[in-house]
Amino acid sequence: MATFLSRSPAQTKALAKKIGKLLGKGDIVGLVGELGAGKTVFVQGLAGGLGVSSTEYVRSPSFVLLNIYQGRLDLYHFDLYRLDNLTELENIGYKEYFYGQGVTAIEWAEKIVPALPAEYLRIELYHQSPEERIVKLIPKGKRYRELVNRI
Ligand SMILES: Nc1ncnc2c1ncn2[C@@H]1O[C@H](COP(=O)(O)OP(=O)(O)O)[C@@H](O)[C@H]1O
Ligand SMILES: [Mg+2]
Repeated sequence: MATFLSRSPAQTKALAKKIGKLLGKGDIVGLVGELGAGKTVFVQGLAGGLGVSSTEYVRSPSFVLLNIYQGRLDLYHFDLYRLDNLTELENIGYKEYFYGQGVTAIEWAEKIVPALPAEYLRIELYHQSPEERIVKLIPKGKRYRELVNRI
């Protein structure tokens, strides 16, 4: 595990961008943190690291559970804030993405623990002050431990 203190949205994005550069096909990033913790900001950084050109378009639009962005690898961005149950997730055909050709980033990953694979990169974000966030990188499995060691 690695813990960082981010002092601005830009710092959170920069950390996530580093991670995004290391991600490969089929990798899964699960984000956990309350509303406003910076999950979407983090995903914007991941998108940058994956070569998505207009990362400012990475948002959490209402009523959409999944957005796909094209980059070096496709980014499947799940925002599960409004997810009511796992059936809803199954109806989107989530496995096609989780085990697909791109990279998956999931906001509110704690809502779908039974659907998460054993190995993934868990990111926990905590408010520290209005502009500061604690960012914890919690690798599940060897591949992600090695990845976190490179950050
Ligand atoms: N250090 C920081 N890291 C990330 N976001 C921050 C930070 N400091 C302030 N913020 C602000 O917190 C908010 C985070 O929003 P967002 O990423 O949408 O949160 P979430 O997706 O977790 O609900 C943004 O308005 C952002 O500008
Ligand atoms: Mg969000």
